[in-house]
Order: sequence, then C-alpha cells, then structure tokens
Amino acid sequence: MKLIIDDAHIDLIKHIYEFYPVDGITTNPSILAKVGKSPYDVLTEIRSFIGEKAELHVQVIAKDAKGMIEDAHCIVEKLGKATYVKIPSVPEGFKAMKALTKEGILVTATAIYTPMQGFLAAKCGASYSAPYVNRIDNMGYNGVQVAKSLHDIFKSNGLKTEVLAASFKNSQQILELCQYGIGAATVAPDVIEGLVKNQAITSAVDDFVKDFEGLVGKGKTMSNLQ
Ligand code: G3P
Repeated sequence: MKLIIDDAHIDLIKHIYEFYPVDGITTNPSILAKVGKSPYDVLTEIRSFIGEKAELHVQVIAKDAKGMIEDAHCIVEKLGKATYVKIPSVPEGFKAMKALTKEGILVTATAIYTPMQGFLAAKCGASYSAPYVNRIDNMGYNGVQVAKSLHDIFKSNGLKTEVLAASFKNSQQILELCQYGIGAATVAPDVIEGLVKNQAITSAVDDFVKDFEGLVGKGKTMSNLQ
C-alpha cells in the first residue's frame, strides 16, 4: 500500500518526507484553501520539492466535462505528466475521465461514497479511485468496507484501477486497509504521525537508552564508547 500525504502545506510536507516513507501528495480545493496562497504557486513549490516523477494529485474545479478537461490540461501543463488529475465521480466527471484517459492523462476519480461510483470511474480508465472513508463512516455507513468492496470489484473484473482511500481520522481505518492490500492511502500529516504516537513505544525506547547509560555513562552511544 502506498502512503500519500493529504496536505499542501510545504513545511508539513517536508517534515513528513524527512521522517516517513511516503509516496507522493494529494490535494483538493479545500486543502489548497487552508494554505491560503495562490494555488499554482503552492502546487509548483510542492512539485519542485517532490521531483518531477513523484505522484502529485490535483483536483479540477469546473463542474461540466468541457471545463474539467480544460482544467486538466492546464494542471498537467503547469505541473507535469506525473500529475494525477482528480475528477469528481459524477456524470460530467465520467464524461471528462473518458476523454482524458484516452489522451493518456492520469486520472484519480474522487468524491467516492459508493462502490458503483468507483466501478464506473474504473471503466472510464481512472488510475485510482478515491473513497472517503471517514466521511462515509460519519454518514453511518462503513467507509473501510466501501474501500474493500472497491478493491474486490477491481480485482474480480480485471480492472487495473487501484483504490486510493482518503479521509482518515484514525490508525485503525488505515491498518484494516493496509492488511487488505489496497493500492494506496492518502493521509493527513497529523494522522500519519498518529500511527506511531504511542506512550508504550516511546517508553520502550527511553528505557533502552536509560539502561545503556546506566551501564556506561550518560550521553554514551555505540559510536562514542571508549
Ligand atoms: O480529498 C479527499 C480527502 O482529503 C477528504 O478528507 O478529511 O476532508 O474528509 P477529509
């Protein structure tokens, strides 16, 4: 399972890249609004930090297929061919997906709440299909189950599309999908850090150091022993 950062703040992205094994960045219009700067300035800075071949996902804004296609062309022209254009999985979106994938533009189908939306997007040639796990949970349904169903539908129909699960609020949601072998999860920086934020882990590591320093002296490590 790829682990992708769902955020556009460059400082947070740099921090997560420094410490964790991540595979790219997803954004959406709300995430860009939270940064509060010119969208293409923010996205260009991200692209230049992660490199031209890394995955960057950027969403269209137009609501009709013609406008979505124009948005997609502009996104790829400004941010490079490794940019996945996120398109909402609605009728106008399917129309745009079919045209864009025919041109060889990478598409991530987004705003997915039901397995059938994801199935239709996959048939339109989308590389990824992005169910919103936590938002589905909040509606009283089971977001993890929707993501698993999508994964099964793709495999049993011989579709190459992978699940890129989004909207996570806790480690358990991610763990279940990781165990299931879905293609990718995109996760906000604080939730990524939450994967290992655990007092038992911190205490275990601290205890090892304390025991070692008790043996050979404070500040001693394996590289500065006499
Ligand atoms: O792109 C979709 C994803 O970012 C939604 O996450 O946390 O707004 O539900 P959230």
